[in-house]
Amino acid sequence: MLFKEDKNFGFQFPEPQYLGAKHTHLAWIKKFIPRNVTTALDAFSGSQSVAFLFKQMWFTTFSNDFLNFNNQIGLALIENKEVKLTKEDIKLLYQPAANKTDFELMENTFTNVFFEKKEAEFLDNFRANIPLLDNTFKQALAYTIINRSMTRKITMGHFGHTQALVYASDPERIKRNRSLIRPIKEIFEEILPKYNNAVFDNEKENRSFNKNILDLLPTIDNIDLAYFDPPYCDSHADYQGFYHLLETYTEYWKDKEFINGIKRYEP
Ligand SMILES: C[S@@+](CC[C@H](N)C(=O)[O-])C[C@H]1O[C@@H](n2cnc3c(N)ncnc32)[C@H](O)[C@@H]1O
Repeated sequence: MLFKEDKNFGFQFPEPQYLGAKHTHLAWIKKFIPRNVTTALDAFSGSQSVAFLFKQMWFTTFSNDFLNFNNQIGLALIENKEVKLTKEDIKLLYQPAANKTDFELMENTFTNVFFEKKEAEFLDNFRANIPLLDNTFKQALAYTIINRSMTRKITMGHFGHTQALVYASDPERIKRNRSLIRPIKEIFEEILPKYNNAVFDNEKENRSFNKNILDLLPTIDNIDLAYFDPPYCDSHADYQGFYHLLETYTEYWKDKEFINGIKRYEP
């Protein structure tokens, strides 16, 4: 039996694949966190791994990232106390979209870049249905899990290269990582329970923000502990470049210019 203090540690953070994610260092980071904290801020939250640790430690947790696909993880796992995706929700997400012609961005832009046509169509159809979920946290879970499914399917888990389809037809690579040839729908269904099972209530009003940190900081106070994990100087970590596809899918931009071989938007 777990003590109340440890109860939240029974919930497991679903393994991310994100440049600079700290999920493997959480035990070490935890050693340096003082206990007399009420409110903690994860200022550059990325995969939300550190925010999730703060939530487990019973802190009122504020989380922030300027990329919306990361904010959706924050809504789904940090702010959300109890909402999960049900079988009915999944049926709704798969149903043929009523407004199909408004949802062809993935098909038109990324077919034969990252996906075969059928997969791109599945993503568009799924995306068209997300707003039909009647709850922000359900929608956030849908974004989070489908985006994670895309990083599972694409070689190296980011979108800054043009080798996705080349590698997906290389038998040696497929042997090492079968996700390269699995349908996204299958990956989605496999990882969904891990996300549902990570939803818990730490009895605090946690918040996920989607702001440039320089705009957010002047608007919040009473933070006892702030964790800053910005992109490293001199590294080539361009988060907008590496994860452009997830942001494009989440925002469903139709007014952007998509440039170069990876069809990145102009940041
Ligand atoms: C090193 S990663 C953080 C990794 C995170 N600690 C984790 O465990 O996944 C840096 C993050 O900062 C975000 N970021 C970069 N500039 C930002 C800014 N000006 N305001 C808010 N977030 C920013 C990026 O989108 C990226 O997710």
